Amino acid sequence: DNIQSPFETVGGEQVIDELVDAFYDRVGRHPSLAPIFPNDLTETARKQKQFLTQYLGGPPLYTSEHGHPMLRARHMPFEITPKRAKAWLACMEEAMDEVGLEGSYRNEFFQRLVLTAQHMINTPDKPE
Ligand code: HEM
Repeated sequence: DNIQSPFETVGGEQVIDELVDAFYDRVGRHPSLAPIFPNDLTETARKQKQFLTQYLGGPPLYTSEHGHPMLRARHMPFEITPKRAKAWLACMEEAMDEVGLEGSYRNEFFQRLVLTAQHMINTPDKPE
């Protein structure tokens, strides 16, 4: 039938690859995010491509290789502050612009990421 998953609607593997590469390029240069990420983001990006593919209803690539995502638990070793969540989402928004992700699904996808990012917060912002 003609019913597509959001994964197909956004453009499938090629668009997810481009999006995740554009995203981590920004994360690696962001002053509040770079310090908590590895210097080499190759493996991080590979896992994120797998994760976002299944998050959008594509093949369950992340779970096949790594098991249940348990995302909040996997983020507990890192101080995820409200400020870092905003920075993460800003990098993603810019990456969406860069790869030309537009249309109604972009908004829906981004709003889901806003909720997921809020759920990852495990540390309050430090007072200035
Ligand atoms: C892994 C930070 C939000 C999905 C990581 C890692 C860090 C991080 C430091 C470890 C990287 C590594 O060791 O390779 C953050 C921050 C966020 C955030 C600061 C701000 C809220 C999200 C969101 C998602 C997500 C919203 C999903 C939509 C993942 C995945 C991994 C990961 C799939 C790989 C987990 C694994 O090791 O298997 N994140 N993250 N993150 N993050 Fe996030």
